[in-house]
Amino acid sequence: APIKAPDLRDCHAPEDLPEAITGATNCCPTYDGTGIVDFELPVSAGSSPVTRVRPAAQLVDAEYVAKYEKAIRLMKDLPADDPRSFEQQWRVHCAYCDGAYDQAGFPDLEIQIHNCWLFFPWHRFYLYFHERILGKLLGDDSFALPFWNWDAPAGMALPSIYNVSSSSPLYDPKRNPAHQPPFLLGLDYSGTDDDASGISRDNQIDENLRIMYRQMVSNAKKPQLFLGQPYRAGDDADPGAGSIENVPHGIVHFWTGDPREANQEDMGNFYSAARDPVFFAHHANIDRLWHVWRSQIHNNNNGGFDFADPEWLDAAFLFYDEEARLVRVRVRDCLDMASLGYAYQEVPLPWLDARP
Ligand code: C2O
Repeated sequence: APIKAPDLRDCHAPEDLPEAITGATNCCPTYDGTGIVDFELPVSAGSSPVTRVRPAAQLVDAEYVAKYEKAIRLMKDLPADDPRSFEQQWRVHCAYCDGAYDQAGFPDLEIQIHNCWLFFPWHRFYLYFHERILGKLLGDDSFALPFWNWDAPAGMALPSIYNVSSSSPLYDPKRNPAHQPPFLLGLDYSGTDDDASGISRDNQIDENLRIMYRQMVSNAKKPQLFLGQPYRAGDDADPGAGSIENVPHGIVHFWTGDPREANQEDMGNFYSAARDPVFFAHHANIDRLWHVWRSQIHNNNNGGFDFADPEWLDAAFLFYDEEARLVRVRVRDCLDMASLGYAYQEVPLPWLDARP
């Protein structure tokens, strides 16, 4: 059977939190027992369902930044127990990745949406609702999140819009101070920046592009290899991540987090990652790469780029929407990005030419 949506009444202290902060961190969303509605695709006024185009973070203008800052500030200013508040938004991620929910009918098994085939769809929905809440707060249903275009040289640094000043709502003090823009992101980062080893900027960029080619093409020839291993009701967590989830997804988290913090907070640990607004730009790029893989890399694959397995298609999650309604979504509802009403700004894919 597919993984079922969690029972919010049974949300408990997350089992997988780093030891030092167990007891001090609550990841459970507010829940007052309201009913659950089933997801429906958004309705658009025009002929195309796409009303939101997510821009590359390095290409946005001042007007966009002002709007995005305003939206995040409004979200941070909501009462902490409003399910649309920033405080609640990061908890959603924590609860689904640190074991705050048990699988329905399996009290000894947690729900874990990483390291398995739920990774891409769960995060797609998470961003979808986050973005719609921001648009609602702005009164602008064309508002779209930016993406951190780290797969191309122009995006291989922390996007500067997140680092404008410590008073910006996009800023987070818990980041690696050595990795401020324009410091080059290494997609093979392993915890040290040794300039001493002498890898030049150009060589690191080439290496990054080769890593992208390897993870998007060479190591991603089948759905399981890209999307992750099957994970069904009654299964243990963590059957195995897909290529991109491991690298660069995990690497970029670790590279961004603060090594002065006990658990590489914020970005470097599951529970705290979504406290940093750049999380959402990082995941927008992950989501975009899923779309690229599905539509451009394996487009001659006769639909073989999605799992046909109903245990994937019918896996379900719960999210609060922009009206604070609790919505049950299924994986099958998110496969067609356009029908969700958003698209990505077209940018070059230089790694396509970086075949080793
Ligand atoms: Cu839910 Cu980037 O992790």
